[in-house]
Amino acid sequence: MNDRLIEVKDLCKFFKVGKGNTLKAVDHVNLYINKGETLGLVGESGCGKTTCGRTILRLYDATSGQVLFDGKDVSKMRGKELLEFKKRAQIIFQDPYSSLDPRMTIGEIIAEGMDVHTNYTAKEKDAKIAELLNSVGMKEDFANRFAHELSGGQRQRIGIARALAVNPDFIVCDEPISALDVSIQAQVVNLLIKLQRERGLTYLFISHDLSMVRHISDRVGVMYLGSLVELTKSKEIFENPRHPYTKVLMSAIPVADPEIDGEKKRIEIKGEVPSPIHAPSGCKFRTRCPYATEVCAQEIPKLREVKEGHFVACHHCNEE
Ligand SMILES: Nc1ncnc2c1ncn2[C@@H]1O[C@H](COP(=O)(O)OP(=O)(O)OP(=O)(O)O)[C@@H](O)[C@H]1O
Ligand code: SF4
Ligand SMILES: [Mg+2]
Repeated sequence: MNDRLIEVKDLCKFFKVGKGNTLKAVDHVNLYINKGETLGLVGESGCGKTTCGRTILRLYDATSGQVLFDGKDVSKMRGKELLEFKKRAQIIFQDPYSSLDPRMTIGEIIAEGMDVHTNYTAKEKDAKIAELLNSVGMKEDFANRFAHELSGGQRQRIGIARALAVNPDFIVCDEPISALDVSIQAQVVNLLIKLQRERGLTYLFISHDLSMVRHISDRVGVMYLGSLVELTKSKEIFENPRHPYTKVLMSAIPVADPEIDGEKKRIEIKGEVPSPIHAPSGCKFRTRCPYATEVCAQEIPKLREVKEGHFVACHHCNEE
């Protein structure tokens, strides 16, 4: 049995931008996601997380490389096979305010995917909508309401119910909590965890919030300027980060205990993130990396396994 639901091989998504320039939003990314697992994806704004998620879902066509879903190349899918993939692989968007159509009732929003992918009768559909509302912690009578009557947290629950309506296996959760009040972020994440357990779902969880990523993810990937620089188990990446950039990211997480937080050493890095249109040669992090040497400017570091299941793209990270 293949445990891998998603396999991403040398995936690239480049955008043509003004003056004939190319923006490498996703640049030779390699990763896999096992069935039933949550892979967290982190990195600064603009590093390519959303583009990566969308290219995996074939919402964008890849420039090159492959996405395998259950062993099958997504870019080669056509007709029925593609429709089946679109059903099995869903997305939850960041902004629950703009992602729900204000003219449709909540019931109609949830049922939209069902209309494309199932042959439910009207009665079956109503029963399914009620069941979905319950499973995201809402009462059935919300089906007749409109999005503007709902709070942000409730809207995001509807976004989740909509994704679940077609019984997917895989969901890209693209910053699903960042537009919500801090007080309800944990509730929504805990709901995602509960639904994953109940339904055996596989998640790609994209977020800026490293503490939340740690809470939900089995493994975590770190992106910098379109490249994946480190990938390993969640506990390992937070406790034993190896890539210089990951170390910087992790050192910035506030610790709940102010005494420990005061003692914790924040690692500062120099300079701004370079433009993704004119990324540095070799290692893209070299212009900000305190350990950079000549080889870093000349050769692109490949993602290597430095310890079982721990992958790092850095010339100067030794194997353990
Ligand atoms: N359709 C597009 N056309 C041109 N450039 C794009 C397009 N979509 C994204 N980009 C660029 O690709 C890069 C990656 O963007 P992306 O939205 O994937 O980053 P992100 O990591 O999701 O950022 P954020 O954390 O802000 O959501 C950015 O430089 C962005 O400006
Ligand atoms: S490859 Fe070189 S520049 Fe890049 S992170 Fe490693 S040491 Fe720093
Ligand atoms: Mg994004």
